[in-house]
Amino acid sequence: MKTPVNAIDSGTLRENPWRKRPTLPMSADVKPLFNAERFIRKWGRSIRKRIYWPQLRRKFAEKWTVESGKEQFVKRSYNSYADYVEHQRAKLGLHDLEKYDVKFREVLRERLSNSGICWNGRTVLCLGARIGTEVKAFVDVGCFAVGIDLNPGKGNRYVVQGDFHDLQYAADSIDFVFTNSLDHAFDIHRIVGEIHRVLKPEGRLIIEAVAGQGEGSPPGFFESFFWAKIDDLATLIEQSDFRLSNRVDFECPWKGQQLWFEKKFSR
Ligand SMILES: C[S@@+](CC[C@H](N)C(=O)[O-])C[C@H]1O[C@@H](n2cnc3c(N)ncnc32)[C@H](O)[C@@H]1O
Repeated sequence: MKTPVNAIDSGTLRENPWRKRPTLPMSADVKPLFNAERFIRKWGRSIRKRIYWPQLRRKFAEKWTVESGKEQFVKRSYNSYADYVEHQRAKLGLHDLEKYDVKFREVLRERLSNSGICWNGRTVLCLGARIGTEVKAFVDVGCFAVGIDLNPGKGNRYVVQGDFHDLQYAADSIDFVFTNSLDHAFDIHRIVGEIHRVLKPEGRLIIEAVAGQGEGSPPGFFESFFWAKIDDLATLIEQSDFRLSNRVDFECPWKGQQLWFEKKFSR
């Protein structure tokens, strides 16, 4: 029999479950001998990759541009914005994200818990959140979190359709914006402007940035914007009315740095 909603102790509802309870087993921890559904998904992905990948490679060749005076950044050349969107949307469905989803959720939850912030009830917007892994980590620590992505896939409970160049949210309305997807920018200045607009005056921007080309990590096939060093990205953000307040190295899901920014002033 179902417990009537009003029979649940309202105190328990307000608590952050991850503070008190041991981590629940997640799907990738449970390994059946043969998982037919997983096998079919893997098979479908491999066929899609064989057919789709060469077409994508032909259409989006490795052509990069560098603006004079801004040699620390490279931008992928697209014929149009529609081409950029098509390229970025194509990423979902080509990779198996099951293990990544469990691992990144776990390590990000740990980083957030160690940050000294009281997360309960904070509002968080995650940009380029794909299947919602980072959104789940913020929910785990007690936030009201939502993600946006050009391609959140069907039936995603954590991420809605959206473009981080043109956010559908009100000015001064969000406590934290999180993103690890700035290497997928088409126009970085426009994105940073949008983040500045939606953050509350005391809001914070958290960027997880992958190590740059000059730090041993070249951009991959889906990256559209890249930096020589993480410092270069940090400087660019600081030049857009943000102040860098903290930075933390990490190794998972890739080698990078978590950068915390405060809004300098309202525009
Ligand atoms: C490297 S993936 C990162 C996904 C996610 N943050 C994670 O760690 O699982 C980059 C994501 O950015 C999304 N993306 C690219 N351009 C975007 C845009 N203009 N607006 C919103 N999302 C975008 C892609 O669809 C992709 O899901």
